[in-house]
Amino acid sequence: MREELYIPKVTTKEEVYMSLYPQLKALIGDESDQIANMANITSALKEAFDFFWIGFYRVVAERLVLGPFQGPIACTSIAFGKGVCGSAWEEAKTIIVPDVDKFPGHIACSSQSRSEIVVPVKHNNTVVAVLDVDSDELDSFNETDSYWLEKICALL
Ligand code: SME
Repeated sequence: MREELYIPKVTTKEEVYMSLYPQLKALIGDESDQIANMANITSALKEAFDFFWIGFYRVVAERLVLGPFQGPIACTSIAFGKGVCGSAWEEAKTIIVPDVDKFPGHIACSSQSRSEIVVPVKHNNTVVAVLDVDSDELDSFNETDSYWLEKICALL
């Protein structure tokens, strides 16, 4: 594997995702250990975008349990249908939250988190994990993020 990621400077979010995606695909390669792959995905996305918090929660024994992440410490366990993560699991679809204070039931792992996107990871149409990205600014995520983060999650 290559030792460093190539992250284009001074460019659009779309261009960064476009550059990152094939590198992540190559990095995952034929590795079947999902925790290792999730760890590299969170590291690469943190390096590329300097997100406030990015991490996976895996479905373990009917709950979402904290997996590989980058950023401050976070809640370890989330129930089905609870918070943004549990809702994305229940609905099996991506949820973009422009202002976390306006999402009923949002779970505040950090008071600095202001907006959020949660993308489900599916195997055979079943949600096996979610990718959660938090920003310390309002309205940080849009369809560009959902498009590329869904593509990245489909690599798992
Ligand atoms: N805000 C999430 C909880 C996870 S933390 O943001 C890392 C939620 O409402 O599900």
